[in-house]
Amino acid sequence: MSQRLPVNKNNKFCYDIVYEHDFSRLLEEFDQMEFNIRDKKICIITDSNVEKLYLNELMNILTPNCVKVISFTFGAGEESKNLDTVQKAYEFLIQNKINRQDFLIALGGGVVGDLTGFCAATYLRGIDFIQIPTTLLAQVDSSIGGKTGVDFSQYKNMVGAFHMPRLVYMNLSVLKDLPGRQYFSGMAEVLKSALIKDGKFYEWLINNFYEICQREPEIIEEMIFRTNEIKKSIVEKDPFEKGDRALLNFGHTLGHAIEKYKNFEMLHGECVALGCICAAFISWKRDLITSDDYYEIRDMFVPFCLPITIEDIDPEQIVSLTHSDKKADNHCIKFILLKKVGKGIIDTTVTDEEMLAALNEIHFTEEDMKA
Ligand SMILES: NC(=O)c1ccc[n+]([C@@H]2O[C@H](COP(=O)([O-])OP(=O)(O)OC[C@H]3O[C@@H](n4cnc5c(N)ncnc54)[C@H](O)[C@@H]3O)[C@@H](O)[C@H]2O)c1
Ligand SMILES: [Zn+2]
Repeated sequence: MSQRLPVNKNNKFCYDIVYEHDFSRLLEEFDQMEFNIRDKKICIITDSNVEKLYLNELMNILTPNCVKVISFTFGAGEESKNLDTVQKAYEFLIQNKINRQDFLIALGGGVVGDLTGFCAATYLRGIDFIQIPTTLLAQVDSSIGGKTGVDFSQYKNMVGAFHMPRLVYMNLSVLKDLPGRQYFSGMAEVLKSALIKDGKFYEWLINNFYEICQREPEIIEEMIFRTNEIKKSIVEKDPFEKGDRALLNFGHTLGHAIEKYKNFEMLHGECVALGCICAAFISWKRDLITSDDYYEIRDMFVPFCLPITIEDIDPEQIVSLTHSDKKADNHCIKFILLKKVGKGIIDTTVTDEEMLAALNEIHFTEEDMKA
């Protein structure tokens, strides 16, 4: 199965997203690209966990068929998503004489994808790259749409570029190796996408939660495909986030602030789940959705092993962190609210008091414990 993503009218950024259950069709996909990738040098960029799982297999497929294949590995984790790692990658590319005609492959989760994409966007003023996403989060979200970047100082994704991949090759069988917590972190982005754009898909997720939790291949494939359809439809209309692409940030204003507040000890999707619940709470308090909608949305994170409450937070500090988010232009936060399940809207009038009330709602305190 495959999907094509033309992200502007001239198809300038057109690329395929292919769904497979192994790596066996990778070379065929290369051959379908308009230039011969087999004539090029390839550098696979990956992290220390993914290296052990899939690097050899990929090397064995590519090495006999391409001019030269090399690999660069960095330590797994968000702590590596910074300019130091980028600098080491540049040095490696220069030493190995990777030039503008050559290719990078991002083999890994969102951290590898964002960092490799950023190297590709900036090295020699831009070279091509391919995404081979290996986490659910990367398959449903970060590998699609061309946002690349790294964290800078305490600011998340502060330095980056829009740079579209030439191909996104998904081997869905890699999800079987993914630790449960990582898998469910990706589910937060799936639920987010359904909530902002597709109420029917949201119902489908509820009805299929058991199969999704069991990682049944056919159901997972449909789930990833439909989530990508949502992102694709938004990104095609607004590739550079001048308008509606901001909808994809549902749950992210407070989600990012919680992530920062907790020093990245919680996973991205776990924080996004809490951010979605807060945004749904504000939507309820503004009478955009009903209380039943709110409680149903909140409780649907539970079967997907995502948190709906959080302990030991200082809500005021989290609210102040939302103001240092790069998405806060001129002190005006583009907050995403829900008009109904399946319809997100951009709102620039959400106040600190509303965010505070939402955070107090999810804050699990000692009094709650005694009650
Ligand atoms: N560019 C975008 O549009 C976009 C969108 C959403 C998130 N993001 C970024 O994505 C990042 C989070 O991505 P992530 O959750 O994939 O994190 P990650 O890349 O750190 O991967 C999570 C962990 O899983 C390991 N792993 C990867 N594939 C595996 C596999 N198949 N089996 C076992 N372990 C595996 C990794 O080594 C890592 O330890 C954040 O930095 C976030 O900012 C970017
Ligand atoms: Zn996200």
